[in-house]
Amino acid sequence: MAQKALQRCLQKGPSINRKKALVLRERRSSSSIETMTPKEILVTGGAGYIGSHTVLQLLQEGFRVVIVDSLDNSSEIAVERVAELAGDAGKNLAFHQIWDSECLNFVPHRFHAVIHFAGLKAVGESVQKPLLYYNNNLISTVVLLEVMAAHGCKNLVFSSSATVYGWPEQVPCTEEFPLSAANPYGQTKLIIEDICRDVRKSDSEWKIILLRYFNPVGAHPSGYIGEDPRGIPNNLMPYVQQVAVERRNALTVYGNDYNTKDGTGVRDYIHVVDLADGHIAALRKLFEDSGIGCEVYNLGTGKGTSVLEMVSAFEKASGKKIPLVMAGRRAGDAEIVYASTEKAERELSWRAKYGINEMCRDQWNWANKNPWGYGSPESQS
Ligand code: WQD
Repeated sequence: MAQKALQRCLQKGPSINRKKALVLRERRSSSSIETMTPKEILVTGGAGYIGSHTVLQLLQEGFRVVIVDSLDNSSEIAVERVAELAGDAGKNLAFHQIWDSECLNFVPHRFHAVIHFAGLKAVGESVQKPLLYYNNNLISTVVLLEVMAAHGCKNLVFSSSATVYGWPEQVPCTEEFPLSAANPYGQTKLIIEDICRDVRKSDSEWKIILLRYFNPVGAHPSGYIGEDPRGIPNNLMPYVQQVAVERRNALTVYGNDYNTKDGTGVRDYIHVVDLADGHIAALRKLFEDSGIGCEVYNLGTGKGTSVLEMVSAFEKASGKKIPLVMAGRRAGDAEIVYASTEKAERELSWRAKYGINEMCRDQWNWANKNPWGYGSPESQS
């Protein structure tokens, strides 16, 4: 059975590095997790925007990292660039392209922890294709947890989202706020959080941290890795960056009649490098705090910024004028959302370091150096 399943995985992942997988199996098969140092972390979706920035921080912190990613919505170039940026620590990075979590049975490593980023995340698409989102995000997570338990790894950091706060009636949002989903994407995050809580209740060996991201923006200061969404960007800043490099004509501002300082929506934008650091802090909490069960933390800055304020900061950072088209409100949008970060500061000793100006500086640096992301004009659909 195992051989057939292995062949299925290897056959499914044409660019999976069979030789590398087999070599790693020989070198690592005798290792027991207790004797392995430094700690080895599996990162699902590690070729993506937040995943790639987190993997770089992990390598620089001395962890060994294995990325598994389908590359459905990411690029292997990001993996290569992370290894380059990591310098000598790049040798501690392995990559396997896999299509489903079952293949993890054949990723030949024993892990101290898993960071689970992999999942579809376009709000609008989730409304159009709910079954795609429930199948992809939920089933793959259940199989991942089963494979982890089977291999004796019960330390998990899960990529959740502020979208689970729905339309908060007050701000800042604390982790104790009531939860609701405005769309199937948000519903998958809510359900996975519940799955994690149930798994921990069933087996106290599990240690799980759920991280609720607010609005990730920016890029690594090198400008060598950054956000490269497929198709038309759903989110504000990747759309602004594409206007700045003249891939889009103008930014449509969804609503300027909100009860906010300038009428446009207010969000808690957080630098992706701060977000990556939040994952390191969460991992350290898992390894150092024997009393942790299943805990949730907001990762934001605690500050609200409007659409027009973000656009203005980006124009200042880039020297580019961003043409605007004022339109009606976008269905499902909340008016004002920003985080209380007290719990993460207190329990993870983590807080965001960068402000809006650094976020826009680094977002522009990435866009200016990579106007087509990891692709090229020819590769755009
Ligand atoms: C921000 C503001 C829009 C685009 C979503 C997910 C959340 C997280 C981040 C994954 C709003 C306005 C946007 C545009 C605009 N993703 N806007 N024109 O909706 O707060 O959060 O992405 O975890 O889970 O829900 O982010 O960037 O789409 O919107 O005016 O072209 O920018 O109305 O006020 P959002 P966003």
